[in-house]
Amino acid sequence: MTELSTYLDAVNRALETYLADVSDGQDIVLEAMRYSVENGGKRVRPMLTLEFCRVCGKDPSAALPFACALEMVHTYSLIHDDLPCMDNDDFRRGKPSCHKQFGESYALLAGDGLLTLAFETLTRAELPESDICRAVRTLAACAGIRGMIGGQVLDLLSEESAPDYALLEKIDRLKTGALMEAAVLLGCIAAGVTDETVLCAAQTYAQSIGLAFQIVDDILDVTGNEAELGKPIGSDEKNQKVTFVRLLGLQECQSLADKLTARAVSALTEIPGDTTFLANFAKQLAVRKK
Ligand code: IPE
Ligand code: IPE
Ligand code: MG
Ligand code: MG
Ligand code: MG
Repeated sequence: MTELSTYLDAVNRALETYLADVSDGQDIVLEAMRYSVENGGKRVRPMLTLEFCRVCGKDPSAALPFACALEMVHTYSLIHDDLPCMDNDDFRRGKPSCHKQFGESYALLAGDGLLTLAFETLTRAELPESDICRAVRTLAACAGIRGMIGGQVLDLLSEESAPDYALLEKIDRLKTGALMEAAVLLGCIAAGVTDETVLCAAQTYAQSIGLAFQIVDDILDVTGNEAELGKPIGSDEKNQKVTFVRLLGLQECQSLADKLTARAVSALTEIPGDTTFLANFAKQLAVRKK
């Protein structure tokens, strides 16, 4: 189970099951949740969870509920990120954004619904309760005010301010890196890893690809093709965001992303098992066009 497409299929199938299961008369919000989840998306974070689980010695299927929980949190973050009070973007994953399709109130609730369903989904893993508890704590920390939400706050606060390397690194490490970190840690937890060296190496890998990922996202916001990306370009300029592109220019940004990718790949030497997939995955993300 090391093929991208195998992981993709497994994640998509499992997401469908978890989202089929929750209706109790609130069909409109369930439909909005499904619309946003089951609609493209590269599934980068769940793939990291499954592959870390495999590399650390366990069948990746053990981590499937964790992987899906990650994708639910990520999708909720995108629904809320697109709202008019945030980035105000009308397209996502190649279709109208959740609030364009269902209205703002239901989009807000669909995001909330996905966030809470994510934690319920974590508990479905067939793993010792102590590991599920570790997973809950990890996802909560990475998604919350000390993680992704904290990054979104800084992202808003810094609109229209002058770009500064340390600030940008902090914003991107939190708003994007934190969920990547959760993804790899959840994979390790599913495999029962407690070795600090391995956990630290996994975190270094995730932080490096996370920062590189946001830098490439910012590059694509300028150079990308809207049809291919499935979301609007020029959003950062419209919102006067501080980005690495504004600070360093396009070329230096790509070389920074490449440097971070090399750092991610070298962190893998501390991880036992065959890390070829993870090395290639990091390299592919650095040159992605969507
Ligand atoms: C977009 O994430 C938001 C960022 C953190 C840059 P992705 O590029 O992973 O979006 P999907 O899941 O493929 O739609
Ligand atoms: C968003 O960063 C990161 C999130 C936590 C959602 P962006 O605002 O750049 O993401 P896109 O470009 O809208 O996908
Ligand atoms: Mg944003
Ligand atoms: Mg955005
Ligand atoms: Mg962006």
